[in-house]
Amino acid sequence: MNFDLVINNIKFLGQRVFLGIKEGKIAELSFKDLSIEGVPVFDGQGCTLFPSFIDAHVHLREPGFEYKEDIESGLKAALAGGFGQVLAMANTNPVNDKASVTEFMLTRARELYPSGPSLHPVGALTRGLQGEEMAPLGELAQAGCKAFSNDGLPVKNNELFRRCVEYAHDLGLLVIDHCEDPDLSEAGVINEGKMSSYLGLKGIPTVAESLQVARDILLAAYLDIPLHLAHISCKESVELIAWAKEKGIPVSAETCPHYLLLTEEILADYNTLAKVNPPLRTEEDRQALLAALRTGVIDILVTDHAPHADFEKEVPLAQAPNGISGLDTALALSLELKRQGQLQEQDLIRLWAETPATLFNLNFNSFKPGDRADFILVDESKKWVVSEKTMYSKGKNTPFWGQTLRGKVKYHFLEGKLVYEDK
Ligand code: DOR
Ligand code: ZN
Repeated sequence: MNFDLVINNIKFLGQRVFLGIKEGKIAELSFKDLSIEGVPVFDGQGCTLFPSFIDAHVHLREPGFEYKEDIESGLKAALAGGFGQVLAMANTNPVNDKASVTEFMLTRARELYPSGPSLHPVGALTRGLQGEEMAPLGELAQAGCKAFSNDGLPVKNNELFRRCVEYAHDLGLLVIDHCEDPDLSEAGVINEGKMSSYLGLKGIPTVAESLQVARDILLAAYLDIPLHLAHISCKESVELIAWAKEKGIPVSAETCPHYLLLTEEILADYNTLAKVNPPLRTEEDRQALLAALRTGVIDILVTDHAPHADFEKEVPLAQAPNGISGLDTALALSLELKRQGQLQEQDLIRLWAETPATLFNLNFNSFKPGDRADFILVDESKKWVVSEKTMYSKGKNTPFWGQTLRGKVKYHFLEGKLVYEDK
């Protein structure tokens, strides 16, 4: 066995390893030195080896909202953040509800980043995301969509939602549901509870989410069709999903780093950077989500990267748009959870790469011979400040702004090629 490249001086699951790469694929991961005369050696500088992460829920805003983010800045943030593949939601302008929009996104991404990261478009579930009429799902699948979602806006009509789910299933694609009852959440600004009373703001109750989670579970059971539940934020949803999984109902779910590290308390000073939908909840909810990730009740982590411009967030809390920019900070925040003992290194690999790949039928590098050599070398002790200088996303709307985080991607390899280096 010979290699095109050998990576030494790296750690994987607590052990010193050596990685041999050939023709863009993993050739061997070994505990013994793989260096061979004539084969170039790359010094991993003591970094931790992870497969490239997959973010199954991002908003890249192009076409239409390029002032918030565009495919170029969004994919750069993904690359630097450790993501080799992203699923991009359909709430662009025009909405991604026709092949021409899907094709545009794919072409743009390939032109800008021929070596990756890969952009996988998510097609709209309903036309214009209006929740009134099914989008042309067949056309969207044909054009390259990897899933369908009405993310950003719920589908209230149960009969329409059922038909969409059945149709998507016939096309072999999963529906990612934005679980929200729009009447219960109407005009809500933050979580309904102590903080909303204290601030005198209309709240969004947890039941606005859990009610739709229950609907989806019952539908998935009735139809025996898998459904994926987006950005789960509260304990009641976790309990319902746990029940569904015990019964063998085919549902999967995701949550985001901000729900794991923050609570509604952070909104006490009307911080618009922490305004997100679903809203940050309570400590009890946060603990339930962490436990659900460890046990597999919640299957994957996603960022729900939702960039907005500064001027949009610099308004009173009630007027500010929902969303947190997440691609730049997700890895460091995940490593914080690891340092706190909440998640292990294996959990991060499962939650950020292995399971999302399985759910959405994407590449996963398990470091077995023949796997695509998509991986990151992470400097876990590197401290950095979340700032204009360190963020690649145009959206600086993060509640972690100005904070010192620990852990950064040092090198990102896609198909065995070095495509990003932290300077
Ligand atoms: O906070 C959010 N922002 N939640 C959503 O559902 C949509 C997203 C966005 O597109 O900004
Ligand atoms: Zn979203």
